[in-house]
Amino acid sequence: MANDQEKEAAARASLKYVKEGQVVGLGTGSTAAFFIRLLAEQVKNGLRIRGIPTSVRSREMAEELGIPLTTLDECQEIAVTVDGADEVDPQLRLIKGGGGAMLREKIVASATKQLVIVADASKQVSVLGKFPLPVEVIQFAQALVAKRITKLGAQVSVRKAADGNPYVTDEKNHILDCHFGKIPDADGLARELSEMPGVVEHGLFIGMASVVLFARGNEIVELRK
Ligand code: 5RP
Repeated sequence: MANDQEKEAAARASLKYVKEGQVVGLGTGSTAAFFIRLLAEQVKNGLRIRGIPTSVRSREMAEELGIPLTTLDECQEIAVTVDGADEVDPQLRLIKGGGGAMLREKIVASATKQLVIVADASKQVSVLGKFPLPVEVIQFAQALVAKRITKLGAQVSVRKAADGNPYVTDEKNHILDCHFGKIPDADGLARELSEMPGVVEHGLFIGMASVVLFARGNEIVELRK
């Protein structure tokens, strides 16, 4: 698939940001998975790094591929994290959480000096919001939070797992996918959601990305803060 080629190309371009001896945040999703595979090859070739995965999925993958890992308990400063995104706007604001891991992803990003986002060209947008914004909620508060977000103008649905039951995150919460269409004031919405009781985290990443690497065909476009 053309998209997969772009995802791999973007992931490959991010390798130059990873240096010997660093602690590296390992993102989640199909583009981040390309990065984890490529990083594992470099580790096999002698690169010494330690990874902090942003999900159980990425941890299992990194373990299988032989990437040495550490944890936030052992290390609270991460030099570089490479992760994917669902949408990126011209201010490098992101929607993340399509893969359901935005809570740990945001925690890792917040402890990271340089957050490098890797994406295929389809993720570049002028205004965020076409992709439904994931909001992780405490199960107890799910209906109440859904009602409040609906009042903000979104169509809200509870994310379902393959078996038809609500999708359960690594931290045992549920996800509301909030279809806004367009989010004209992403900063304001981010603040509003963060203040809503019952919301654990939302997928708006504002002011966090240092670099975005988009692959468009064979070309890599690099955007910086
Ligand atoms: C997971 C994420 C992913 O990074 C995002 O969904 C992009 O995924 P993909 O690279 O598969 O398109 O935020 O929570």
